[in-house]
Amino acid sequence: MQAFSHLLLSFLVILFAISCSDAFTRNDFPEEFLFGAATSAYQWEGAVDEDGRTPSVWDTFSRSYSRGNGDIACDGYHKYKEDVKLMAEMGLEAFRFSISWTRLIPKGRGPINPKGLLFYKNLIQELRTNAGIEPHVTLYHYDLPQSLEHEYGGWINRKIIEDFTAFADVCFREFGDDVKLWTTINEANIFAIASYSEGFAPPGHCSPTSFFNCSTGNSSTEPYLAGHNMLLAHASASKLYKLKYKSKQRGSIGLSIYAFGLTPYSNSKEDEIATQRAKDFLFGWMLKPLVFGDYPDAMKRVLGPRLPVFSEEESEQVKGSSDFVGIIHYTTVYVRNSTSTTPSLIPRRQDFFTDMGAETIFMGNSTFFEWDSIPWGLESVLEYVKQSYNNPPIYILENGTPMKHGSTLQDTPRIEYIQAYIGAVLNAIKNGSDTRGYFVWSMIDVYELLSGYMYSYGMYHVNFSDSGLKRSPKLSASWYTGFLNGTMDVSPRDITQMQSHFSGPSSL
Ligand SMILES: *[C@@H]1O[C@H](CO)[C@@H](O)[C@H](O)[C@H]1NC(C)=O
Ligand SMILES: *[C@@H]1O[C@H](CO)[C@@H](O)[C@H](O)[C@H]1NC(C)=O
Ligand SMILES: *[C@@H]1O[C@H](CO)[C@@H](O)[C@H](O)[C@H]1NC(C)=O
Ligand SMILES: *[C@@H]1O[C@H](CO)[C@@H](O)[C@H](O)[C@H]1NC(C)=O
Ligand SMILES: *[C@@H]1O[C@H](CO)[C@@H](O)[C@H](O)[C@H]1NC(C)=O
Ligand SMILES: *[C@@H]1O[C@H](CO)[C@@H](O)[C@H](O)[C@H]1NC(C)=O
Ligand SMILES: *[C@@H]1O[C@H](CO)[C@@H](O)[C@H](O)[C@H]1NC(C)=O
Repeated sequence: MQAFSHLLLSFLVILFAISCSDAFTRNDFPEEFLFGAATSAYQWEGAVDEDGRTPSVWDTFSRSYSRGNGDIACDGYHKYKEDVKLMAEMGLEAFRFSISWTRLIPKGRGPINPKGLLFYKNLIQELRTNAGIEPHVTLYHYDLPQSLEHEYGGWINRKIIEDFTAFADVCFREFGDDVKLWTTINEANIFAIASYSEGFAPPGHCSPTSFFNCSTGNSSTEPYLAGHNMLLAHASASKLYKLKYKSKQRGSIGLSIYAFGLTPYSNSKEDEIATQRAKDFLFGWMLKPLVFGDYPDAMKRVLGPRLPVFSEEESEQVKGSSDFVGIIHYTTVYVRNSTSTTPSLIPRRQDFFTDMGAETIFMGNSTFFEWDSIPWGLESVLEYVKQSYNNPPIYILENGTPMKHGSTLQDTPRIEYIQAYIGAVLNAIKNGSDTRGYFVWSMIDVYELLSGYMYSYGMYHVNFSDSGLKRSPKLSASWYTGFLNGTMDVSPRDITQMQSHFSGPSSL
């Protein structure tokens, strides 16, 4: 009760502080624009060995680190009805989640697990039919069946294309009548880098000399091989959808990339050129094949034979295979031309960033775990994609900011962050960007890839020490509700004022 009255009080303060200058509302966005929030299977569901699910590479990976695991997570597998109810109360228009491949097809290929199938059917029905919330489904979010990793090395083997397409086929057939938005692979570029160059994401491959002491991998070749197979697997699933399902189901299918805002460290020519090179390596790597059918020249030049080549047929299949581009965006970094081999993010490397020939340097107070709000950075990403890649439809699939888990329910910095970035999206749309949706990461506190349970992004708090995993709304949940129901104008200045006037006690 105490907590609730503090929340209510601070919420009223926000409402009271609203003025009209440079404010915007939900109604400034097109009606069909979708505002939602996101989670992913391993991070939310828990129940990792229940009802026939088998381990993914993420289960295996999290056991080799001391930052917890997703064995229980939010127990979304059992609590999905409760969570959909919270989403409905929050006024979400869409919910992005992912399908656990090994819950649906425990061996990676072959027989479908009826209980896994039922879980996703129930979840989708709960969302769509009972709550009127549009599902946005990601097929792959870091959780390859361990059996396929073991059998042939997963994403670095072309066999993945056939298995991924067969998995996608099951999903389209079983869920496609109710799912209109599909992302094949989550942040494909950073997935290839984090998992196959740096080794800090599952399955944790990197060269022996790398910082993370991986037991297997080659940071100079595997990221490009994995990235290539991702593009081919995406294109294959997309082709299947178009041939077999699209005319009946009328959905869209896209690939998502992680997009830092990138800005030169200095006004030197070197840093400016390095920034363009970084855009080619980080965005163009995926977007140029999807839009124009081939890799950027800058990558071909640097990588030579390490960069796989598309056959003519593959190039044709990849080109145009994304109905939309998913953008995952958190912050903006400086780009500095590499003049030494000691860049700031990861030391000791023979890897992707060395190939890129540029360092990425956090701005201001940003670190790996907390970052400054730099909304113009998102605007510049959207503008760049618009101008360089034929203005594709875009969904912002993740945006949000972490705070120490359990530090407070009054997450005013999160509200300021989200509001400022939504404002940036609006600016980009006004200047012609075809952005069609925005998802907050995350709907609820989840098990995080980098920080486990130490930092959280949720608009709902989860008490992970409580056996019932009690959910409590943070201030950001009420803020989002007010924004979405159109009763609230928001303007950056007002929130700042509100924050400086408010000094209520933390309710946790
Ligand atoms: C990675 O592969 C390249 C190209 O095949 C090879 O030259 C290099 O020695 C390999 N590195 C490691 C660490 O295996
Ligand atoms: C990798 O191994 C070195 C040497 O044993 C050790 O100092 C370092 O902390 C390890 N790195 C990680 C990320 O575990
Ligand atoms: C960038 O740094 C490299 C390595 O020091 C140097 O050779 C190059 O001239 C610099 N400038 C550009 C534009 O690449
Ligand atoms: C960085 O932190 C300092 C001290 O907490 C703060 O005054 C400043 O506003 C922060 N900078 C940014 C860009 O958030
Ligand atoms: C708005 O779009 C135009 C045309 O694409 C472009 O020239 C201009 O730089 C954009 N403005 C901003 C602020 O990004
Ligand atoms: C979390 O749950 C535990 C166990 O029920 C309880 O002791 C603790 O006070 C709760 N923490 C918060 C912040 O509510
Ligand atoms: C809109 O959201 C606010 C904030 O949560 C809430 O107080 C209000 O009752 C909602 N109004 C409607 C019409 O749903």
